[in-house]
Amino acid sequence: MKPLATYFKKKYNTVLNRILPSSYYPTRPFNLNEVNMDDLITQAAEDLAAAGKVTALTGAGISTESGIPPFRGKGGLWERFDPMEIAHIDAFLRDPAKVWTILIKEMKAIMDTAKPNDAHKGLARLEEMGKLETVITQNIDGLHQAAGNTDVIEFHGTFAWQRCMDCSRKFETSKVDISEIPPRCSCGGILRPDAVFFGEMIPQDAMWRSRQTATDCDLMLVVGTSAVVHPAALMPVIAKESGAKVIEINPEKTPLTDETSDYLIKGGAGDVMNQIIEKLGQIS
Ligand code: OAD
Repeated sequence: MKPLATYFKKKYNTVLNRILPSSYYPTRPFNLNEVNMDDLITQAAEDLAAAGKVTALTGAGISTESGIPPFRGKGGLWERFDPMEIAHIDAFLRDPAKVWTILIKEMKAIMDTAKPNDAHKGLARLEEMGKLETVITQNIDGLHQAAGNTDVIEFHGTFAWQRCMDCSRKFETSKVDISEIPPRCSCGGILRPDAVFFGEMIPQDAMWRSRQTATDCDLMLVVGTSAVVHPAALMPVIAKESGAKVIEINPEKTPLTDETSDYLIKGGAGDVMNQIIEKLGQIS
């Protein structure tokens, strides 16, 4: 683990780098306009084969193929709702019934039946192959564990459980009776997801372990995140500054693409993961 001062010094340097002319930057290994998808898949498989510790950071994009909508972009939740109105802790405290009715009920209906897709299964396969150690996920859907990954850091908590706001007793979300909204504990307290609302702290243990994992890894796969929500989006930056390779899998560029990632494999997570696993199987 690097001392905090070293981390912030490096972060400060990164900010400085942003105002230097692009000619300052060392030549990237790839010009994305010239490299085709097959080459990048092969490169990713070779990088995975060569890496010691591999970590993945995932976001909502990895679960879209399981039928869970993302937050941003086309079809995203924040296209329909203002997150400050229904996903901020103040909004929940002000009117829990409204947040349950508009957001949590819909999420429960979707997540009660969602199944892992090829991308989740691919990350589980990478663990089985002895390649991937830890998944840091911003998702609260539990699909990495369902796919078989055993070390999953839930950076924004979990939707699998609801917590009583008075006595902290936990209830499995799939078994919570929602015939009355908001649902309540036997003590009378209102239930809330055991996940992080906007305006709340990241669980301390998740924050600590994620930073450590990002610092220690040799390669970070960044799958299906827009990388705009901090501090989760800082994890690839920490990994990069600690010497790791950063590979993004996403149909779109993100703020990490030009500044932090070694390369972006443009595509859907399921298809890309399937191809990487197949290639990796041929190499190792
Ligand atoms: P976003 O919804 O912000 O971003 C989803 C990303 O997935 C985008 O970059 C898409 O281009 C990409 N994507 C879409 N389909 C994909 C596919 N099939 N394969 C791969 N990538 C795909 O989701 P997050 O980055 O996870 O926080 O959002 C971060 C946080 O913002 C969430 O955890 C949540 C939200 O507000 C809280 O609620 C606290």
